Amino acid sequence: MEKHIVLLPGDGIGQEIIGSAKAVLEEVACLFDHKFTFESHDIGGTAVDKHDTPLPAETVKACKQADAILLGAVGGPKWDQNPSHLRPEKGLLGIRKELELFANLRPVKGFKKLLSASPLKEEVVENSDLLIVRELTGGLYFGTPSERQENGQAVVDTLYYQRHEIERIVDKAFQSAKLRRKHLTSVDKANVLESSKLWREIVEEKKQEYPEVTVEHMLVDAAAMKLIQNPAQFDVIVTENMFGDILSDEASVLTGSLGMLPSASLRSDQLGLYEPVHGSAPDIAGQNIANPLAMILSAALMLRHSFKLEDEAALVETAVEEVINAGYHTGDLNVAGGSRVNTVQMTDKVIDHLSPSDAMSCIMRAYA
Ligand code: IPM
Ligand code: MG
Repeated sequence: MEKHIVLLPGDGIGQEIIGSAKAVLEEVACLFDHKFTFESHDIGGTAVDKHDTPLPAETVKACKQADAILLGAVGGPKWDQNPSHLRPEKGLLGIRKELELFANLRPVKGFKKLLSASPLKEEVVENSDLLIVRELTGGLYFGTPSERQENGQAVVDTLYYQRHEIERIVDKAFQSAKLRRKHLTSVDKANVLESSKLWREIVEEKKQEYPEVTVEHMLVDAAAMKLIQNPAQFDVIVTENMFGDILSDEASVLTGSLGMLPSASLRSDQLGLYEPVHGSAPDIAGQNIANPLAMILSAALMLRHSFKLEDEAALVETAVEEVINAGYHTGDLNVAGGSRVNTVQMTDKVIDHLSPSDAMSCIMRAYA
C-alpha cells in the first residue's frame, strides 16, 4: 500500500515526538511491505515565527492533498500574549475546520502496569475502557459573534449547532458503539441549554436506527463525577465540543498519564488528523525526555482509521503495551521500579517489539 502522510510537528515536544511516530511507521512499512512517504509543514507558534500566521496556506494545501496527517502539539508561553489571530491554537482550530474534521475520537484505556500511576484507586480505574466521541468543528469554539462589546466591558461567545452537525457526530458515536460494548452515553446540559435539548432529541431519533445499542442521557456535571467515581460503567460517550474537551482531560487521569492518550479527528471520508491529547509541554521541550507513546498510539489510530490496516495498528498497540509491561517508562509516568528511558530510547524499544523475535529491526536487516 502506498500512502502519503503530512507531518505537522508544531511546537515544544511536538518537534521531538513526531520523529518517534515517523520512525515507528517506517518500521511498519518495512515489515509489511508498504510505502509511506512523508512531508513536514509548519503549524502553531512555529508557523507564527516563520510565516506570521499559525496556519500557512501551504500547510492547508498539503493537508488537503494528503492521505492522513500526524500532528505533534501546538502552543507555548512564548506566544501567550499574542493577539488571538496569532495564537498557536488558532492553527489547530483552523486546520480542524478547514478539513471539516468533525469527529474526534479519544479512546481511554488503562494499561495494567500503569494503574498504580493513576491518582485514583486501582480498583476504581481497573477495567476502564471507554471512547469519548467529541464534536470538533462546532459549538462555542466556532460560534459568531465571539467578541468583546461595550468598550471591552462585556463579552459574548456563541454556542451554535445546526441539526446536520449533531446528526453526523451522533451517527459516528452509534457506529463506534456498535463495534464495541454497544452502550452509548450522550452527555449534555439539557436541563439548561437549548442546544442540548436539540442534541437529546436527535439522539432519541437516531437510536431507532441502532436497536442493538443501549442509550443513556447524562448531564455533564453528573458525567464529570461518574467518570472518576465509576469509569468502568462507560463504553462510548458522545458530546459537544467544549464538554468533550473538558471530559477528555478528566478521563486521561484514569490511564495514569496524559502522555499515553492518542486521538483521531475524522470526517466522513478516510482523511484524518491524528494527534496526542496532551499539549506541547514547553517546560520539558528539547530535552529528549518527553513520552512519545501517545504520538505513537496516534499513528496506530491512523493505520486503523485512514488506511484500514488493522493488523498493523494492532501490532503497534501491542508493542507499546509490551514495552510498558517490560517496565520501561518515561519521566511523566509515576511508576515504581522498572527502567526510566528517554524519548529516543522509548521509541527504539517500541520498534524492537514490532519485530517477532530477534532484536534487529526490519530496517536494520535491510541494510545488514
Ligand atoms: C485539545 C486541546 C485544544 C482544544 C486546544 C489546544 C485548542 O485542548 O485538543 O483538547 O481545546 O480543542
Ligand atoms: Mg483539550
